[in-house]
Amino acid sequence: MILPEGIKSVLIEEKIIQEKINELSKLIDMEYRDIETPLVVIGLLKGSFIFMSDLVKKMSTPLVVDFMIASSYGDSMENTEVTILKDIDTHIAGRHVLIVEDIIDTGITLTKIEEILSTRNPKSMKICTLLNKPSRRKKDVNIDFNGFDIDDHFVGGMGLDFAQKYRNLPYIGIVSQD
Ligand code: IMP
Ligand code: MG
Repeated sequence: MILPEGIKSVLIEEKIIQEKINELSKLIDMEYRDIETPLVVIGLLKGSFIFMSDLVKKMSTPLVVDFMIASSYGDSMENTEVTILKDIDTHIAGRHVLIVEDIIDTGITLTKIEEILSTRNPKSMKICTLLNKPSRRKKDVNIDFNGFDIDDHFVGGMGLDFAQKYRNLPYIGIVSQD
């Protein structure tokens, strides 16, 4: 396989990712099998757009989708302050909410988003992420549905970027940092 410039190697192949998303969709459907109002699935943009679309296509739970944009990384690998650039417009009071992330790294972004959303009194709030980097955690996050734990690599693909590149790769690749 020919890798784009700046991608060192493939960390997780497309087929393995899709099998995992299938598994996650079944677990999530099971979790929400008895809900009375549609599940509110909230994707954190831009990174979650491919994972979330693959995931909801495989789910049978009645759902609505909405999106939030929080900036945490900018164009560098350094972490920065969390700012909400776009909020959801769905009312979530009394409703079940599933937050979909591309990757949980320090946990700072998600902690902030959970804080904001919980003041709106959802009935429940759970977290689903494609990737998890436990070694970099600064804030404790309780992940309900996790795709893959990965080591401390900077990765791209499946929605994840490095300086806005690589989001459309259907696999997870390791970004070369030299
Ligand atoms: P956290 O606040 O440190 O958990 O950062 C989470 C956000 O940082 C993710 O939603 C990604 O947008 C970004 N991020 C963290 N690690 C990576 C990576 O390896 N590749 C691409 N983006 C990443
Ligand atoms: Mg992100």
